[in-house]
Amino acid sequence: MAKSTGKSLVIVESPAKARTISKFLGPAYQVEASIGHVRDLPAGKKDVPEKYKAEDWAYLGVDIDQDFQPLYIVPTDKKKQVKKLKDALKEADHLYLATDEDREGEAISWHLREILKPRVPVDRLVFHEITKEAIAVLKKIEETSDVSFDLRYAPFGGQAYFDHGSAFPEETKKICDEADAILKGPIGLSFEESKNIPVDEQPERGALLPLRRRYNTFANFRPVYLPEELSHFSPLKPRVVEGGVDFMIIRELVGGLYFGEKERGENADGKRYVKEVLEYDEDQIRQILHVGFQEAMGRNKVLHNIHKNNVLKSSVLWCEVLDEVAIEYPEVEVKHLLVDAAATHMFLNPRQFSVMVMENMFGDILSDEAGGLLGSLGLMPSACMGPDKAYYEPSHGSAPDIAGQGIANPYSMIGSVAMMLEKSFGMKDEARKIWDAMRDVFGEGYTTADLRDPEGKLQPITTAEFGAKVVGKL
Ligand code: IPM
Ligand code: MN
Repeated sequence: MAKSTGKSLVIVESPAKARTISKFLGPAYQVEASIGHVRDLPAGKKDVPEKYKAEDWAYLGVDIDQDFQPLYIVPTDKKKQVKKLKDALKEADHLYLATDEDREGEAISWHLREILKPRVPVDRLVFHEITKEAIAVLKKIEETSDVSFDLRYAPFGGQAYFDHGSAFPEETKKICDEADAILKGPIGLSFEESKNIPVDEQPERGALLPLRRRYNTFANFRPVYLPEELSHFSPLKPRVVEGGVDFMIIRELVGGLYFGEKERGENADGKRYVKEVLEYDEDQIRQILHVGFQEAMGRNKVLHNIHKNNVLKSSVLWCEVLDEVAIEYPEVEVKHLLVDAAATHMFLNPRQFSVMVMENMFGDILSDEAGGLLGSLGLMPSACMGPDKAYYEPSHGSAPDIAGQGIANPYSMIGSVAMMLEKSFGMKDEARKIWDAMRDVFGEGYTTADLRDPEGKLQPITTAEFGAKVVGKL
């Protein structure tokens, strides 16, 4: 093999994208544009290569005798660009095809592979909306502080399955094992796309839950934060959210129903049945409760314990363990609330909450409700902490219905970067700056498409514009 250059070639679709992306990838990556498709069918007879000119199908550009084999050519105006890409590839150890994630982007990547015949490892890379903005924020923090981040990209989720046959490929596991922290973008597929993937390789079951299990990220922090000046985004009456909302949902993330044994079958009467096991042992409960109490100590020392002990035995044990743990935190006032009642209270009086602690499924549901309280799940970042490793992700999915339109709200992704800086790297001040920058951008009267604009006075901005404004403030 050729000598190692330590350089990667990244091919995107347009020169404008190449410029933006190269700014945040740094010098180890050469970013070039394919400028759309590098190959095409001949536009007419004059484009057909000499050796085919005599064929009677030549004017069609498709060999109708050979199973309709297309005759792809490099159009004259693309020759120079293709040469440039070939030359750049000679200098690279790794090729990333980073064309768009739509079908056309896939096709462009395929043609690039066919024509460049790379002998170095090739990866398909998609710069998801919102992730791009989050990375730009991280790069800006790097510029303005004395730390530097060694960013590695790894395929994960649906696209990883299509490209590597696994939603959580071995290579990605290795990269994650070596990382100090993991920033994860949204990974879900649309209902339609999911059907093309075996159930166990679908992104949630095939990638996300295994990631949580691998690093035992049992403590999920989901801040529910809407400062006073942004309270217009909440669908609730101003008097309910007046003064702003600021509490933390602590969700147990690797136990309970989501990770319990599952069984599906047919019973003696020929009826389909399912069985899913909800299991917790006292250590698992104790460790998440400690996280809840510690968070309460750092806030105003009130902890809401969310449970369902009038029905579930798991909640009975949970509350028992809580009483034991509480002895270690005499300053914390514990308030017990049934989960169904909590759902109501969150809307009636969200300002009463400071820290809420709960098991996995309760936390999944209430944290989405909290997104509704703020006005959008786009305002919900999160941190998933394990004993040795943490990963950070928005609490929402990939919203396939709005993908690619530049209208996704990058707040939760950028907020996840802020949480990473604070929790994994002890960079509290930098994290604060990011929160403040995001608050100020919205505070100046801008809005993203997911958020309400009750008086019709806000100015809508795109995903990229929001990101750029945040970076501008750092
Ligand atoms: C979340 C998500 C996940 C969960 C899904 C995607 C498996 O909804 O992080 O809240 O249920 O935990
Ligand atoms: Mn959820």
